[in-house]
Amino acid sequence: MSRKDSHPLPWHMDVSPGSGGLPPRSWYAGSDALRMSLNGQWRIRLSPTATAEDASFAGSGFDASGWETVAVPGHWVLQGVGGAPAYTNVVYPFPVDPPHVPTENPTGDHLRTFDLPDGWLAGGDVVLRFDGVESAARVWLNGEELGDFKGSRLPHEFAVGGIVRAEGNVLAVRVHQWSCGSYLEDQDQWWLPGIFRDVTLLHRPQGAPRDFFVHAGYDHRAGAGTLRVECDGAGGRVIVPELGVDVATGEAVTVPVEPWTAETPRLYDGELVTPGERIPLRIGFRTVVVEDGLVQVNGRRVLFRGVNRHEFHPETGRAVDAETMRRDLVLMKRHPINAVRTSHYPPHPAFLDLCDEIGLWVIDECDLETHGFVDLEWRNNPVDDERWTPALLDRAARMVERDKNHASVIIWSLGNECGSGRGLTAMADWIKGRDPDRLVHYEGDLSCKDVDLYSRMYPTHAEVELIGKRSEDPWGDPELDARRRAMPFIMCEYGHAMGNGPGGLSEYQRLFERYERCQGGFVWEWIDHGLAHPAHGFAYGGDFGEELHDGNFVCDGLLFPDRTPSPGLIEYKKVIEPVRIEAGTSAGTVRIGNGYDFARLDHVEFVWSHEVDGEVRGSGPLTVPDVAPGAHAEVPLPGDGAGVWTVRALLAEDTAWAERGHVVAWGQVEVDAAVPAAAAVRRCPETAEGVITLGAGVFDARSGALVRIGGVPVEGLRLDVWRAPTDNDNGAAWQPDERYGLRWRELGLHRMRHRIDTVEVDGDSLTVRTWVAPAGVDLGLRTEYRWTADGERLGLTVSVAPEGDWRVPLPRLGVRFGLPAAYGGARWFGGGPGEAYPDTRAASVLGRWEMPVDAMQTPYVRPQENGARADVRWAELTDGGGAGLRAEGTAPFWFTARRWTSEQLDAAEHLPDLVAGETVWVNLDHAMQGIGSQSCGPGVLPRYRLDAAAAQFSFLFSAVE
Ligand code: GAL
Repeated sequence: MSRKDSHPLPWHMDVSPGSGGLPPRSWYAGSDALRMSLNGQWRIRLSPTATAEDASFAGSGFDASGWETVAVPGHWVLQGVGGAPAYTNVVYPFPVDPPHVPTENPTGDHLRTFDLPDGWLAGGDVVLRFDGVESAARVWLNGEELGDFKGSRLPHEFAVGGIVRAEGNVLAVRVHQWSCGSYLEDQDQWWLPGIFRDVTLLHRPQGAPRDFFVHAGYDHRAGAGTLRVECDGAGGRVIVPELGVDVATGEAVTVPVEPWTAETPRLYDGELVTPGERIPLRIGFRTVVVEDGLVQVNGRRVLFRGVNRHEFHPETGRAVDAETMRRDLVLMKRHPINAVRTSHYPPHPAFLDLCDEIGLWVIDECDLETHGFVDLEWRNNPVDDERWTPALLDRAARMVERDKNHASVIIWSLGNECGSGRGLTAMADWIKGRDPDRLVHYEGDLSCKDVDLYSRMYPTHAEVELIGKRSEDPWGDPELDARRRAMPFIMCEYGHAMGNGPGGLSEYQRLFERYERCQGGFVWEWIDHGLAHPAHGFAYGGDFGEELHDGNFVCDGLLFPDRTPSPGLIEYKKVIEPVRIEAGTSAGTVRIGNGYDFARLDHVEFVWSHEVDGEVRGSGPLTVPDVAPGAHAEVPLPGDGAGVWTVRALLAEDTAWAERGHVVAWGQVEVDAAVPAAAAVRRCPETAEGVITLGAGVFDARSGALVRIGGVPVEGLRLDVWRAPTDNDNGAAWQPDERYGLRWRELGLHRMRHRIDTVEVDGDSLTVRTWVAPAGVDLGLRTEYRWTADGERLGLTVSVAPEGDWRVPLPRLGVRFGLPAAYGGARWFGGGPGEAYPDTRAASVLGRWEMPVDAMQTPYVRPQENGARADVRWAELTDGGGAGLRAEGTAPFWFTARRWTSEQLDAAEHLPDLVAGETVWVNLDHAMQGIGSQSCGPGVLPRYRLDAAAAQFSFLFSAVE
């Protein structure tokens, strides 16, 4: 706290955790005790300041019939009640003067009435629970003040037994958008005030436990689980019929069990029976430790194929319904993600039930981030100011107590991006004391003094390799350095999935596989937080007129806002697939590797197919021996003829997350790829009446410009090096170098001029020599187009020689041309079905693909380069009747087609800005710059950089009838 306050601060600026509430305890979905949801339509009155209205609304008889209504759970800013969402990444959207918050503090007074069904007042107590309110609430029931709380994504309960009555209860909740808690909740996301999680009334019968703690470890040597349930406030019995267990609470029992893992989420149904309440238990036995410098679960090293998940829905913000939660998990499992970091706060508690059930390793993260202090050199950082420590400990306790009974939760995270400080140490100490059976994570303190594992965000591949060898740069204090060096390593964030990308995932995966210390990572992040918007499709920062904002940095997920998988997710699926299918060491074989940590391969079945030029020549089941985790086998294919051999691993049975036949993994082996011969030169150019005719090609005699091929008009064919910079091309403001998107624009690559030097007809060819360069500089690309023709095909060889001082790579290198809008159907043999770039092409399947040009576009929320298909051998653009143009490459090329130009794509800020024109623009690229991850991480690896260098490439064009 920076200044002295001469008078007491109002409750919402008081750094204490709150008042009047009950101590935290575990959350469970149901028991035989009565419960009643208070979700639904509530009355709401919005005030512009925290003090504008008095508290008389909480008293009995207040007439709120003139107020607006709001859905609870929900955010009032997304319901047309008033106010607007606001997005900032790091910076606080208010003056930083902790614990003070602005006078302009949108405040929502919420009101609802309710009656109690029978049976509630017969004895015991009644508890009122809030699962999440942003950012602070003060609560009254029947005019009596219950207390107040902060900690937006944490539960808060009040005892209301003496206050609640059979009929006409009035529940009043005053919610302030800003409180001192906001200083602790500076996560990179929308600021969205409101009662955004459930409100529930719970009957607590006499003799019901206050709380309970399930301890269920697994001894992998003995194959046995040990169960002990601590019960607070009531004795009882723990019954697990399937295991024949019936023991007193507090008593340990050891029985042979199948362990719980994320791959095999074996849960045992049981019950905690107390005099007042019977509580269902779902018990998963597992033990997590750091041993031999590795995170080990049930005695084995695990590899995290993880993702960071914020709670998000494009219409309801952080109010996420049960179906959406399940959908997230099903999608994760189908793209075999096995771990989730609940960035950067505990999720809706029901989400963790689903993780237990469906199988995911969870890093449960506390609702804590003070990143906005970084630019103030961490002055007055609450995590290093003991006045805030009670609030931090309260947050830690609310997370741990709420979520301690989940098998899926194996790591507690103190929070995100808070710098370092004594408050974090206090949290870690408390957590270890309360729950020594899990690990503690925090990334922001490089000393690692409070944690069990070394965690970083966005390190380069080179650094990860050093860490893998335990030879990273030393840390100041030798003792801490030695401690950290002995720790396992994870990346709590990597692969920044903003816009097109992330690139370089495969290379990280290879490092995880090579170095046992590198136990994987969590891609940033699961879903784009684009909010549904009437004009923009999906809105991002700035679209609501925010004074400060961070633009589309809020759209950096593997899913688009509507939860359609982006190419990034398809790529991630391929990169992390748990069965690796590759060419075997001898011809006609495949190598099948089991990359699971625990599972054998008996849950998948293998099939093969053989295609030539995209046509299936044969297919059938493939017999593969049951391979143990970490092992592999070489299996003969039923032939070794030329073409593409594809082997797929399919789920053999339905699971909770996919049906039998779901593709778990695939691999391809190409045998003797056919290379089309260059046009055998037969035709000679003929010049007449201002046009040059060469085979099927017709050119303007003066400019040498191609006019048509057969009956297909062709517009503006020429060298193209520009692409609408991706978010990763542009990089983030804090990135030290590269940021090629900006440097390309500075150089003028988006406004290249094409000077025609000569147009020459020479024997059997037409040669056009040009100089391609931007205004204002003396570098450029000497470019020659040489056209030849045989009977049907028109050959083009482009030779490019850079001259001058080129210091940046090229965005792309190829030709672009336009076709009339009617040629809107695409067919190709090459990589597909989705887009791919040099460092994002693992998931590109070689085959024959067909789709409308419209379907080739990837709808990045902020439009940018997208839609290239890799490794294309030939492509056709056809009209409704199947007639059109075909292009073959003498080497595989990149194929892109769209109904707007790269310049239009570049100018667009939201998807609705892209309007189809009269032309289909086609890019055939010899080479393409990689994508990298520089919107928040490392740039393009050197091998994927398209340095300006002399190049030559050829295409053969023909008309398709
Ligand atoms: C990290 C941060 C995340 C998010 C990400 C960039 O530094 O922990 O919350 O901001 O960068 O998208």
